[in-house]
Amino acid sequence: MFVLAHLTDPHIGPLPRPRLRELASKRILGWLNWRRNRHKRHRVEILSDLIADLAAQKPDHTAVTGDLVNIALPDEFAATGEWLRALGPAADVSFVPGNHDAYVRSALAQWGKHWNAYMTGDGAADRGTGPRFPYVRRRGSVALVGLSSAVPTPAFLATGLLGHDQLARLETALQTLGAEGLFRVVLLHHPPYRTPASRHKRLVDADAFRAVLARAGAELVLHGHDHVHALMWLDGPGGKIPAVGLPSASATADGHHQPAAYNLYRIDGAPGAFTCEVLSRGFAPGAATITELARKNLSRPG
Ligand SMILES: [Fe+2]
Ligand SMILES: [Fe+2]
Repeated sequence: MFVLAHLTDPHIGPLPRPRLRELASKRILGWLNWRRNRHKRHRVEILSDLIADLAAQKPDHTAVTGDLVNIALPDEFAATGEWLRALGPAADVSFVPGNHDAYVRSALAQWGKHWNAYMTGDGAADRGTGPRFPYVRRRGSVALVGLSSAVPTPAFLATGLLGHDQLARLETALQTLGAEGLFRVVLLHHPPYRTPASRHKRLVDADAFRAVLARAGAELVLHGHDHVHALMWLDGPGGKIPAVGLPSASATADGHHQPAAYNLYRIDGAPGAFTCEVLSRGFAPGAATITELARKNLSRPG
């Protein structure tokens, strides 16, 4: 059995004090929003409790699907690099970036500096190359395929884009890994389907992503971004593929947003007969401690 943990959207705070010139961009809006609302919603002590509970479960691997930072200040990146290293060694933690990690164009240069080892494929770090998506990591009978949907956008937009080239490489990778009989887990930040969240937050090429999945197949898709528990079944060549989202890993129960949670996937069986159970742990609304929230068999749609 392989146990995969998933958490997302930690939006790590508190925000370092920005320099004036760093606010001369879209960041000014994010900074005001953080000061007004978001610092109350995303709490570092909630995130610490969640990570302690997750560590006690001793997962074989942990996936983090983006939005580590808030307005992508240079000082935020240094702090989140340390947070990732505390979560586990790069061999055991896979990260894909979210829209907040690409809040301004200059943020992209920080990825390789602080997160490189956590978002590169097997052997890539040894070759000294930077992040290239999708990356592929094989762990026993499981393959992790990490995508980047994070692109800088104008103010008031939080859309994502995978792009034609990345989707082409994804299709090849999924076909190769499928032929190897591996349990393929695809990681991306934006939900790859239409959600109740408005149009300004969508994955622009979600249809093309789902078309790749329908042709090449995958066993599980994990995402973040909407900050809610979600389960959608996508079309695959051999049956339906579950796509699962989660609340922010630092969210307080404020009555308006779903409180912090993470998922544990227990993956067992063999090619053609894999089984997968998901167990959600987190804060129930109004609760001060972490408990089991739900348990579901994902081996069959329903
Ligand atoms: Fe987020
Ligand atoms: Fe996001």
